[in-house]
Amino acid sequence: MSLKQFIQDLRERKEIAKSGGGEKAMQKQMAMGKLTARQRITSILDKDSFQEYDMFVEHAARDFDMDKKTLHGDGVIIGTGTIYGAPVCIYAQDFTVAGGSLGLMHSRKICKIMDHALKMRVPLIGINDSGGARIQEGVNSLAGYGEIFFRNTMASGVIPQISVILGPCAGGAVYSPALTDFVFVVDNISKMFITGPSVIKTVLGEDYTMEEVGGAKVHCEISGNAHFYAKSERECFEQIKKLISFIPRNNQIRAKKIEPKNPTVRKKIENIVPSDPKLPYDMRNLICSVADDSEFFEVMESFAPNIIIGFGRMNGETVGFVANQPMVLAGVLDCDSSDKAARFIRFCDSFQIPLITLEDMPGYLPGIDQEHMGVIRHGAKVLYAYCEATVPKITVIIRKAYGGGYIAMNSRHMRADFVFAWPTAEIAVMGPEGAANIVFKKEIESAVDPEAMRQSKIQEYKEKFANPYVAASKGYVDEVIEPAETRSRLLHALEVSRDKVAYRPEKKHGIPPF
Ligand code: HXC
Repeated sequence: MSLKQFIQDLRERKEIAKSGGGEKAMQKQMAMGKLTARQRITSILDKDSFQEYDMFVEHAARDFDMDKKTLHGDGVIIGTGTIYGAPVCIYAQDFTVAGGSLGLMHSRKICKIMDHALKMRVPLIGINDSGGARIQEGVNSLAGYGEIFFRNTMASGVIPQISVILGPCAGGAVYSPALTDFVFVVDNISKMFITGPSVIKTVLGEDYTMEEVGGAKVHCEISGNAHFYAKSERECFEQIKKLISFIPRNNQIRAKKIEPKNPTVRKKIENIVPSDPKLPYDMRNLICSVADDSEFFEVMESFAPNIIIGFGRMNGETVGFVANQPMVLAGVLDCDSSDKAARFIRFCDSFQIPLITLEDMPGYLPGIDQEHMGVIRHGAKVLYAYCEATVPKITVIIRKAYGGGYIAMNSRHMRADFVFAWPTAEIAVMGPEGAANIVFKKEIESAVDPEAMRQSKIQEYKEKFANPYVAASKGYVDEVIEPAETRSRLLHALEVSRDKVAYRPEKKHGIPPF
């Protein structure tokens, strides 16, 4: 054959390999409102940047007449490309080929691109759309998942790992996404569960739809398994690109600096917090008033909304915000919000992203439900994560900082580098009402007018403790600042902390209260 003929032959082979499960299966995929695996990859990556590998890999199954079947690419596409010019490794399961089910060669392809990602220190994006372990391949399929889980764990904290659920992700398959840093889901398309409706029906006799068991909303609002929710695949891809723009490629380098568009235009900060300390306000406005271009990229927006986590930039550099949300449960810490905050803190710490904590909360959520759910164990995760973190850590106490909440929310004692407080800050063991009821119980009960006595004792307690000056007099708060100074103080604190060095004792690893 001439070279021309060789090339023609190669092109024809590639066309066949790219045909996936065939036209009919592709049409079925699209009829479900889903893009094909290759469309998904090219929609996420920079135009024309995708380079595919292992296109000609075939499955190795021999039983159940599988030897008579051709599965193009064995149901998964792997490759490299760029997002905003930065390299990433990516794979996408192709549901049109045997339902994207995972057999030996399928898993080897995924492992190959995972190994590349870790070796080249670039982010890994995995698109899941699969019926799970390929039934005909038995233990080889299970082994494949195990190999993926091991690699997810080895890569954790070294490169960012992103999972996108764009179809079924069932059984043990869900544990790869669960081991990664961020999980993206899309309304109506994502279905993620250990046991689906049919198993639940068989075992428990209960009827549920797939959406009810593990739809996108379930994982964003109830289970906390997903971090980003989108209405369409296109919207999801934009979210992925945005996330990539905020985070570094690996744990050895900082996120790319992106200069603010309007450095001088700022939202007014003074009017966000109401003067009545009992009234709530949206903490997101406060975050936006300090972040570059008022831009805040929230993570896990709908799960445990009493705490807010997400990325912003300060003078172009990425920071992680952790902030109480007074609008929901007064911003208390509970089991879910503790888990949410702790994991985010650890992500930021692993990837050199400084942490800014904005505090306004009355402590941990009281109640028997929380106690029985393990608020002690979950709450301890926040303490652990902040104490362990060695990135620059700055706290601004806006209003309430009571009890365990004061300590937990990156206090000086958790080794905050800078703690600022607004003059409206109330730093005390507990709220003035509760404190007065306990400390002055006898005086209140024996008073001629108990209510008047209670109010006067509340006032007395407030004046004595519920302010920032006692903490400032001990050096626990570094400076009481005016609200309008917040951004400039934060910028300066970040600037002087850039080359921070913090030591922790050497160990194999700690034992966080998982
Ligand atoms: C082999 C599979 C498959 C699987 C689907 N297919 N799942 N082949 N192994 N696990 C094949 C189908 O036979 C069919 O092939 C094609 O994919 C499309 O599947 P359909 O059923 O026609 O599609 P749909 O109606 O959209 O239903 C999708 C589905 C369903 C909900 C995912 O296929 C399903 O329930 N699959 C089984 C899910 C499951 O129980 N997986 C095992 C989980 S346990 P043809 O040739 O007809 O096109 C597990 C353990 C992992 O994963 C443990 C790791 C630690």
